[in-house]
Amino acid sequence: MSLLKVTSMTHKFGGLLAVSEYNLTIEPGQIVGLIGPNGAGKTTVFNLITGIYRPTAGRIEFNGQDVIGLAPNRIASLGLARTFQEMRLWRHMTVLEHVKMACYAKISYGLAGAFLQTPKRRRQEQEIEERAFASLKMFGVDQFASQLPVDLPYGAARRVEMARAAVTEPKLLFLDEPTVGMTPEEMMAMIEIIRDMHNKLKTAIFLIEHRLRVVTELCQRVQTLVFGQVIAEGNPEEIQNNPEVIKAYLGEEKVVA
Ligand SMILES: Nc1ncnc2c1ncn2[C@@H]1O[C@H](COP(=O)(O)OP(=O)(O)OP(=O)(O)O)[C@@H](O)[C@H]1O
Ligand SMILES: [Mg+2]
Repeated sequence: MSLLKVTSMTHKFGGLLAVSEYNLTIEPGQIVGLIGPNGAGKTTVFNLITGIYRPTAGRIEFNGQDVIGLAPNRIASLGLARTFQEMRLWRHMTVLEHVKMACYAKISYGLAGAFLQTPKRRRQEQEIEERAFASLKMFGVDQFASQLPVDLPYGAARRVEMARAAVTEPKLLFLDEPTVGMTPEEMMAMIEIIRDMHNKLKTAIFLIEHRLRVVTELCQRVQTLVFGQVIAEGNPEEIQNNPEVIKAYLGEEKVVA
């Protein structure tokens, strides 16, 4: 059974056909990439699968379960975590608190535990703190634990977002342009971080990127989306040599180099 199976997913924003007859299969542990020009519908695909929008038509099965109509937090609790294209970190919460918050969403103390400092609750607190630190460490940002995200360098803040998404050890992790706005050095460091995380957690990853280098380094399979339609799918080499893909990216060489 595939981890994620999307069949004939279509979405319209009013008269705009943003995603058309979209299909996707992700197996456990696989890294799949989604590339395409600005406005192609990539983030909309993420938003549809993670429950932010409800598709106009189609089927989405995650881990064998139909997830259309489930709230985003419900889908997340089934083991599908994500990061956003624009960072979503709170101004007044420390880095460590951000990552701990993601853990709280996964556990319940029970009514008594929520109000009383029971030994069980203290033990859980301790475990959560340790897990949060371990996740920050995996992304190389544990030294910022007590700082506010606004005080961090950009690349570090993006890693905190990923640490928050990965701390619950999701079965599938969606990353929306993890290297956007980064220098080539930061991009290479991010590729290594994602690779290390994948080696450690074996999490399946679905990755949106503008930069071909990132998908060729990381992905086993890549889809190219143009005007809401998949125009090519294959391994990174096939995608790079596909005339349709080259055409879609013409004039964008500087972006994808
Ligand atoms: N909430 C919305 N309401 C109406 N139109 C939308 C909405 N969200 C996205 N769109 C439109 O749908 C199309 C696809 O947008 P989307 O953000 O999915 O593209 P993208 O491939 O992620 O682009 P980028 O590379 O710039 O992030 C665009 O034409 C966009 O303007
Ligand atoms: Mg986008």
